[in-house]
Amino acid sequence: MKCQKHLFNLDDNVHYLNCAYKAPLLKSSETAAINALIKDRNPFKLTPDDFFNDVHNVKSLFGNLINCHKDNIALIPSSSYGFSTALNNIKAKVGGNAITIKDEFPGSYFSLKKWCENNHNELRIISPSINSYKLGANWNTEILKNINENTSIVLISSIHWMNGTKFNLTEIGEKCKKYGAIFIVDGTQSVGAMKMDVKKYNIDALICASYKWLFGPYSMGLAYFSDKFQNGSPIEESWMNRSNAKDFSSLTNYDSNYQKKSNRYDVGEKSNFLLIPILLNGIKQVNSWTVNEIQNYCKGLAKPIIEELSKFNVKFEDEEYLSPHLFTLNLPGNIDSKSLKKELEKQNIYISLRGDFLRLSFNVFNNENDVNKLISVIKKQLQINNN
Ligand SMILES: Cc1ncc(COP(=O)(O)O)c(C=O)c1O
Repeated sequence: MKCQKHLFNLDDNVHYLNCAYKAPLLKSSETAAINALIKDRNPFKLTPDDFFNDVHNVKSLFGNLINCHKDNIALIPSSSYGFSTALNNIKAKVGGNAITIKDEFPGSYFSLKKWCENNHNELRIISPSINSYKLGANWNTEILKNINENTSIVLISSIHWMNGTKFNLTEIGEKCKKYGAIFIVDGTQSVGAMKMDVKKYNIDALICASYKWLFGPYSMGLAYFSDKFQNGSPIEESWMNRSNAKDFSSLTNYDSNYQKKSNRYDVGEKSNFLLIPILLNGIKQVNSWTVNEIQNYCKGLAKPIIEELSKFNVKFEDEEYLSPHLFTLNLPGNIDSKSLKKELEKQNIYISLRGDFLRLSFNVFNNENDVNKLISVIKKQLQINNN
């Protein structure tokens, strides 16, 4: 794949290495959104089908990315909504526990903490047992060690949102299945840029905000709920999720049946006429690039950074546990990450600081030029600090 920057309106002199913060808008999504606004001038053109069709199209395309049927997918306004939907429908094991990882994203951490308090289960936060920049192997072992017959839930991100550590979803999913634990994954920082397969990994619920790797709008996300959730109770009772919702003239023939499977969990006003076109266009584009190509492209960008900066004592995670689209620079001890970030910004290089981690994240709008500029500014700072 070649660089796709021409499909975006990113400033030419800006090096945006921060898709994990928010993806830039595709030009085609900008057009889709403007057309959607203009369409809103004339609501008489809106048919009942318009309330449902594009939502189904979004779900089908998302299903392709994660290997499931569209009826197992719900449209959510935020990841926290997705976590609450799943957790509200999970029965606790008596005297059991729920597992998450150290420094998990606050939305999922607090959702799980509350569930534990309400269900008299212990919240277990798994940390690596070593102090190293190569955390992946040890951390995965620690997670696996802790899953047993008392585990009610395992809730983790597919990769750590702060430093990109990859979690072994195959092994964790197998262990959850063996012990009857519900496996919930936050895919926000990987789905769209890294392979996801809810069946292969035995995932029961996969929750994704869309405004990063899916090129969606802020305030819309997608969630997969396995068939274990198909008779569950949604957070709210949207009229649109009833079986008879398409028949606008007889909505008060109240229908107590929900639409099939996870469609019952769709957020109210899911047909958001201004945001759905952006989401649909973003996921279409990801499908057409293909996740495999996106990941390979990011690998190509990550390689020279790792090779060049390793020579200057910057440390990286082992390849097996490093996500090429999102990873961190473990800087020599004499380098202050806050001042390095400021220096990078002076040079129009945008990255994030999460905890002590300088987080780099790439996508297909980045190119060799961004990478070379990053390497040269960091090298210069490292040399200044060594003198
Ligand atoms: C791992 C992870 N989950 C979720 C989110 C977004 O959460 P929400 O959709 O609830 O705002 C982020 C945003 O940075 C994230 O990094």
